[in-house]
Amino acid sequence: MKDKQLAKIRDFIFQLFHTDVTGHDFFHMERVANMAKQIALKENADPFICEVAAWLHDVGDKKLFSEPDKSIEEMHHFLESIFITNSQINTIDMIIHSVSFSKGRIPETLEGKIVQDSDRLDAIGAIGIARTFAYGGADQQMIYHPDNKSTSIQHFHDKLLRLKDLMHTETAKNIAFERHQFMENFLKQFRKEWN
Ligand code: NI
Repeated sequence: MKDKQLAKIRDFIFQLFHTDVTGHDFFHMERVANMAKQIALKENADPFICEVAAWLHDVGDKKLFSEPDKSIEEMHHFLESIFITNSQINTIDMIIHSVSFSKGRIPETLEGKIVQDSDRLDAIGAIGIARTFAYGGADQQMIYHPDNKSTSIQHFHDKLLRLKDLMHTETAKNIAFERHQFMENFLKQFRKEWN
């Protein structure tokens, strides 16, 4: 039952995100879903809820959807159609609402914290670096400019370098350590080549 539901959720997400070029493509959702499941197993959380909510965590994001409310509504219909229960849907909704960095919310449940950790882990390290420049390009931002505060390099200082200290679970903190170090090295090399 759960495997079939997860396969359908994967297809649903593929349809929504497979053409994205902003770093929020299908593979971002897949990595976050795999990571959330893995962390849930280590932290004794509900792996199914974590995996499902992670697959769905960017549905209705205002920077990705022109009609966020409609996309959430369609997601609800879809989840009902594959027999996800109302109480599971409520839990998933709560997690999705609390995950985004820009809203500055701390999820109340362990499952919410795990999905937020997983999304943040995908924003740092080598993949985080690649996604940052992809997003910046799609959003008309420059790679770097010494006098411009809205460049991709600035985004590392505004957000990405802070993420390792915002991880909730021990499992995520351990993974974040290496990825953070890699970003620091990247920025150091970038400055060296720039000057
Ligand atoms: Ni995301």
